[in-house]
Amino acid sequence: MIQYTIKKGVAVLDINMEGYPMNVLNEESIKALGEVLERALSDDAAKGIVITSSRKEFVAGADLKMLQQSADVETTYQMIRQLHNIFRRMETGRKPVVAAINGTALGGGYELALACHRRIALNHEKIQIGLPEIQIGLFPGGGGTQRLPRLIGIEPAMQFILQAKRMNPQEALKAGLVDELADTREELLQKAIDWALANPSALQPYDEIDKKGKVVGKKDYRIPGGNVQSPKGVQTFMAGTALLVQKVHFNYPAAHAVMKCLYEGLQVPIDLGLDIEAKYFAQIAQTKEAKNMIRTLFFAMNEANKGAAAPQGVTPREVKKVGILGAGMMGSGIAYVSAMAGIEVVLKDVSVEKAEKGKDYSRELLKKSVARGKMNREQADQVLALIRPTADAADLAGCDLVIEAVFEDRELKYKVTQEAEAFLDERAVFASNTSTLPITSLAEASRRPEQFIGLHFFSPVDKMMLVEIIMGEKTNDYALATAIAYVQKIRKTPIVVNDSRGFYTSRCFGTYTSEGITMLAEGIVPALIEHAGEQAGMPVGPLEVADAVNLDLIYKVGKQTEKDTGLAFSSLPEGKVIIKFVEELGRTGRRDKKGFYEYPENEPKRLWKGLQELFPPKAEQPPIEELKKRLLYRQALEAARCFEEGVVRTRRDADVGSILAWGFPPYTGGALSFIDYVGIQTFVAELERLAKTYGERFTPTDALREAAAKNDYAGYINRWK
Ligand code: NAI
Repeated sequence: MIQYTIKKGVAVLDINMEGYPMNVLNEESIKALGEVLERALSDDAAKGIVITSSRKEFVAGADLKMLQQSADVETTYQMIRQLHNIFRRMETGRKPVVAAINGTALGGGYELALACHRRIALNHEKIQIGLPEIQIGLFPGGGGTQRLPRLIGIEPAMQFILQAKRMNPQEALKAGLVDELADTREELLQKAIDWALANPSALQPYDEIDKKGKVVGKKDYRIPGGNVQSPKGVQTFMAGTALLVQKVHFNYPAAHAVMKCLYEGLQVPIDLGLDIEAKYFAQIAQTKEAKNMIRTLFFAMNEANKGAAAPQGVTPREVKKVGILGAGMMGSGIAYVSAMAGIEVVLKDVSVEKAEKGKDYSRELLKKSVARGKMNREQADQVLALIRPTADAADLAGCDLVIEAVFEDRELKYKVTQEAEAFLDERAVFASNTSTLPITSLAEASRRPEQFIGLHFFSPVDKMMLVEIIMGEKTNDYALATAIAYVQKIRKTPIVVNDSRGFYTSRCFGTYTSEGITMLAEGIVPALIEHAGEQAGMPVGPLEVADAVNLDLIYKVGKQTEKDTGLAFSSLPEGKVIIKFVEELGRTGRRDKKGFYEYPENEPKRLWKGLQELFPPKAEQPPIEELKKRLLYRQALEAARCFEEGVVRTRRDADVGSILAWGFPPYTGGALSFIDYVGIQTFVAELERLAKTYGERFTPTDALREAAAKNDYAGYINRWK
């Protein structure tokens, strides 16, 4: 678990957790750390202590299984106190302790380093240093909220924690998170040992003396300037940031707890501060929000990334060469992420110039990466050299997979499918990146519809982590396995769905904009609608999102649905609004700089003034809670419908997809887990009420009603097992 050796008079503790995929802090390793630390402190042959690892990572973080399983506040509190005690013993054991950070140190891993007297990191761009717990509904509970602000100052520490920043060693050095860098592992260990030997006395706690020379207390030796901040200093800082937390982290108890830890903990000596942190941490770890986020954003997402949706016993085709049809916004993005994964790319458009322009997109992104020090010139050139622009379909020969991303036009898509297939071998897989056209119908153009599949990317491709894989009626497991393997190779998260209008993501997401626009038509003040969306935890308000999608696209989809299903777009409240905006007012959305918002040059966007005249505000405005409810319940209900219809078949894919594709609020656990978050009985009862007040679109399904009657969410969720 932790090897102990004496090197040049220093005890080297090498954390090496065999049998674990990574070094983590769990019951076992914490216990081992405590024991080996005592040994080093009492070993006369050891003048100092170096903590490091001979594995790839330093310590990747705390074991989340352990946290998820800890049943109550008291158990968690005791566990945290035990960790704090060991860390505190390291600090006060009167021997210099150095963290030789040989690899990634996140969360509890970096907190371990924070409890050392010096931090030296290996200078490698892939190494990550950070306290990202806030992303999974937790916060640094291993002393991070107490030691980091004492080390680098309250404001930077708070930003670092609340923004879940991850830094490479060079950035970490600049920010003061580490003290020194080393170029090789040997140098790292050497520097750590040298420092320990050279600083035996820097570590004695010293007396705090007032102006008259009277001893007024003990100063914590490791913190320049003492460890107690003046209440006034802390308060000034709080005033400035409380607003930010209110806006950005409104729904996240962990963020509020961070503020409390800083506020309360920094005005008292560190031992008390640590106890405050432990108390808050134990409470936060038991919140629904933390449990939801750990389940979905950690466990479910990891499962999806590992290919949990892949069919058993089917060998995928390894994608070494990919063809991309259409070098527009999506095609050029897909080319970039593919080349970044080392895949050869044939990028085809109607002319070589257009294809070249698509390649330029990668060139620009790579330039930025070089400028930021993320890669060197040579590496960037290698990536770029993988992309071959062309206008000749014959160049697609030898592609394992072809992804079509031409204009959203059925006839055109038919044509390019057939043109490409003429040059492909029998086992090649063909995918469409369509956002609205059913995969089953597009597959009709193919000679082998079994190997035709949907690969729905999101814009901007390099930033959006999700790919929605769509099975057509005839798509076989071989195509699915190949698609999943490809998505894994480009390091994105796959979810698998069955063909349906708008698939899973657009279908659910569409209800958000639709409900927002419906509110507008009812005479609810636009700013209130937008505010409700944000307060509910959505990244942006529904009207702004509608603008970003572009109103003419919503119009097009509405008209197409009308054609296919007979449901008149003009019969829907949001249909009426969209038709008016597109046909009469020519306000088509963000792209043309006029939609529900206006986008003046060099000024921030603002809600369009004309809205007030078009939709006179009702005399009595509803409470914001009601609006939030409408916005969230509709999305969750649509997710439930998709789930019941088998469009999406696992809670995992439904939840992960909702958070990654359209930013459904993570604190709920995702669009399908939302039902559990509010409780199945409340969910259904509220839907019945909303349906009565606002219309059938809120009517719960029979299966939901049944589940509510039995109060059995688990039974509902296991319907496909
Ligand atoms: P775009 O208009 O930026 O690019 C389309 C490209 O296809 C153009 O460069 C055009 O020259 C090229 N093209 C036309 N005919 C061609 C042919 N015969 N052979 C090769 N290339 C041809 O469109 P965008 O936004 O990239 O969309 C492409 C597809 O991706 C559409 O099906 C769209 O629905 C879908 N999609 C778009 C998303 C978005 O956010 N824009 C998101 C997800 C999917």
